[in-house]
Amino acid sequence: MADKKARLTVDGLEEVIELPVYTGTTGPDVVDVRALTSKGLFTYDPGFVSTAACESSITYIDGAKGVLLHGGYPIEQLAENSDYLEVCFLLLNGELPTPEQKEVFVKTVKNHTMVHEQMTHFFNGFRRDAHPMAIMVAVVGALSAFYHDSLDIDDAHHREVCAFRLIAKMPTIAAMCYKYSIGQPFQYPRNELDYADNFLQMMFGNPCEDYVTNPVLAKAMDRIFLLHADHEQNASTSTVRLAGSSGANPFACIASGIAALWGPAHGGANEAVLTMLQEIGDESNIDEFIQRAKDPEDSFRLMGFGHRVYRNFDPRAKVMKQTCDEVLAELGIENDPFLKIAKRLEQIALEDDYFIQRKLYPNVDFYSGIILKAIGIPTNMFTVIFALSRTIGWISHWSEFHSGPNKIGRPRQLYTGPTKRDYEKK
Ligand code: SDX
Repeated sequence: MADKKARLTVDGLEEVIELPVYTGTTGPDVVDVRALTSKGLFTYDPGFVSTAACESSITYIDGAKGVLLHGGYPIEQLAENSDYLEVCFLLLNGELPTPEQKEVFVKTVKNHTMVHEQMTHFFNGFRRDAHPMAIMVAVVGALSAFYHDSLDIDDAHHREVCAFRLIAKMPTIAAMCYKYSIGQPFQYPRNELDYADNFLQMMFGNPCEDYVTNPVLAKAMDRIFLLHADHEQNASTSTVRLAGSSGANPFACIASGIAALWGPAHGGANEAVLTMLQEIGDESNIDEFIQRAKDPEDSFRLMGFGHRVYRNFDPRAKVMKQTCDEVLAELGIENDPFLKIAKRLEQIALEDDYFIQRKLYPNVDFYSGIILKAIGIPTNMFTVIFALSRTIGWISHWSEFHSGPNKIGRPRQLYTGPTKRDYEKK
């Protein structure tokens, strides 16, 4: 119930409009503006800068303090003490699993990792140089053509089956996208391997020899999955919720999330960071790019910098930077040229008034690409990895949306087009 009220006066309206104000467990209060339509008013918030689109209990972000909590647990503690599948359980269920629950969860995921053999034929319709995100959008959307047994979105068990299928199959599909692009045969998942190890063997293994994963790289891969797992109502998650609100099946909704994630302002930024670092090429060119990033006439932005919510360090970027150092040390490439440029770029940007005034800090995408490149993953696969990781966040929010009363999402607009006029041939 609302124990607070907001009162709105509008020129030309005699009455004072009283609006309920709700308080969450933490974070800003929200003003319920639903009554405004009956007063002939809409709110106006392009980009949803000040709009809470829903109630959720999955993830909390405090952008001013650089805080990210999943089920109340700080991301730094989860990165240090947990693993991706345990965080998947947490995001889906709101609590960390007991050892027994985790064993069952992991076993269930392992038993769903294969895709229907017919799906392999989809890939042959693509050119070998097709962007793997284009393939992933198509193949994930096509999953709904295979799983007619679990598409009742109002059935909690069906929602759980879809979640398991998606968590389990996304690494398989992602690796298939890569294998197809390099003309190598698809690698089947191996049930004896852990989640990240399994992904790496599907990516880099081949039928001619056994693949042995490097445990440091597998741990780094699992941490990258974990750091990207969920992030409240970001653009792609909001897309999944909106698609879900029409009653679309979960696989189509996740495909819509993959499509929204692809943009360079969102999940495509990790690929764009590497492209930017390659374009900078040498530390001596950094100043030129910093000037371009500050020039309002130049569309260039410092990729991997800035965030709609974080006006402080993105806590994931800090963990990612530490993981980057660990991986490059393990691989003996501390002098990675891109890392040197990235660290110098970060140092210069963080001392520059333009970035300080606008509270622009490195975000989750700034260092992830350097790690992925060091692991041997090509740049055009970076956002595919982000989509793989974020699938749990998308399906958790989709499931939360369908777990209670809900309405189709249908925003309105400020109309500035022509008023009514009669048709006359020109
Ligand atoms: C992700 O929402 C999420 O949670 C997303 C995400 C997740 O986990 O789901 O965290 C993942 O998408 C991270 C963000 C990855 N994107 C990038 O790294 C691309 C580069 N960043 C920018 O495009 C931008 O910072 C955004 C899109 C991330 C945020 O944009 P906003 O909040 O709409 O901010 P804005 O565009 O209004 O910028 C405010 C000011 C502007 O300058 P002024 O008009 O005030 O003069 O800051 C400037 C912008 O020009 N600015 C930048 C900049 N980012 C913002 N200037 C140079 N380089 C940048 N990177």
